[in-house]
Amino acid sequence: MSTVKKKIRIKKKNCAIFLIIVFFLCFSIIKTVSFVSLKIKENKERKQEEKQVIEKREEKITPQPEKTDEELKLEKLNHIEKEIDYFNNDYIDRYISYKNNNPELELIQVIKNVNMQLDYNYYENTTPAKNRNTNNILVNKHYSLEEDYVPNNLETISTKYALSDMKLVNVAKEAFENMAKEASKEGYSIIAMSTYRSYNYQVNLYNKYVKQDGKELADTYSGRPGHSEHQTGLAVDVYNGKENYTNFEKTKEFNWMQEHAHEYGFILRFPSDKVNETGYKYESWHYRYVGIDAATYIKNNNISFEEYYATIIKEW
Ligand code: DAL
Ligand code: ZN
Repeated sequence: MSTVKKKIRIKKKNCAIFLIIVFFLCFSIIKTVSFVSLKIKENKERKQEEKQVIEKREEKITPQPEKTDEELKLEKLNHIEKEIDYFNNDYIDRYISYKNNNPELELIQVIKNVNMQLDYNYYENTTPAKNRNTNNILVNKHYSLEEDYVPNNLETISTKYALSDMKLVNVAKEAFENMAKEASKEGYSIIAMSTYRSYNYQVNLYNKYVKQDGKELADTYSGRPGHSEHQTGLAVDVYNGKENYTNFEKTKEFNWMQEHAHEYGFILRFPSDKVNETGYKYESWHYRYVGIDAATYIKNNNISFEEYYATIIKEW
């Protein structure tokens, strides 16, 4: 073998050795770098965990001041406020105090009840009725009308469907006549026997009942002057022309009204299961015109007009 060839082979061998050394060097550098960074990361995480443990211990040693019941309730109410559109910020103190007095009630019921003024006794803290001369007027033991309040547009109902001189606000009068006419076509007799009543008329009526039954009992079925819905011109007492009105529930006309009154915008105003909300015992003969949409909503949801007012109308 020539010396030139020998030299070339030696050079190739050296080159290979050099490359192997470089490869191992690079490999160990990469390994070392990744090992060191892993250790740094582990160290950081451990320190973080230690810090948290120390913080927790300190928390235990010096506990945060406990929130009072009131603060917790406020927090909850504020949370509810975002979800319930009939939450009234002006009533927040009343919500809290009503909840304290009725801890068994859900907050949603507390809000509804306070909106219905049920945290006040009947005839205490009364407010002048709002939404006058509209279908949304609410007159009850919390909302009142003055002595001189007379609704606009009173009209007399045809004596085909009413005793003489029975007046309602024109929209209610039209609706009542349409309803009674349809009932009559189907063989039912629905007659209006008490409709708009002035303040002074109610004074005499209420006083008569008080004399007869005493104030406590009279208050369960008769509105005090200024608090009777009859003064709005939107309320009507009915009978079938034969039976006494107090027996209306037992007549076939009552069943017809149960099925159809809402189609003409009327609701049974004092149902047997809403006595606490309305403030009056069950009256199967007393209907109130509220308009077809409201009447349908109230019937379908089985709520009182008070609840409808407190959650949908919201004019407190
Ligand atoms: N009977 C009803 C409640 C009124 O007097 O208005
Ligand atoms: Zn009535």
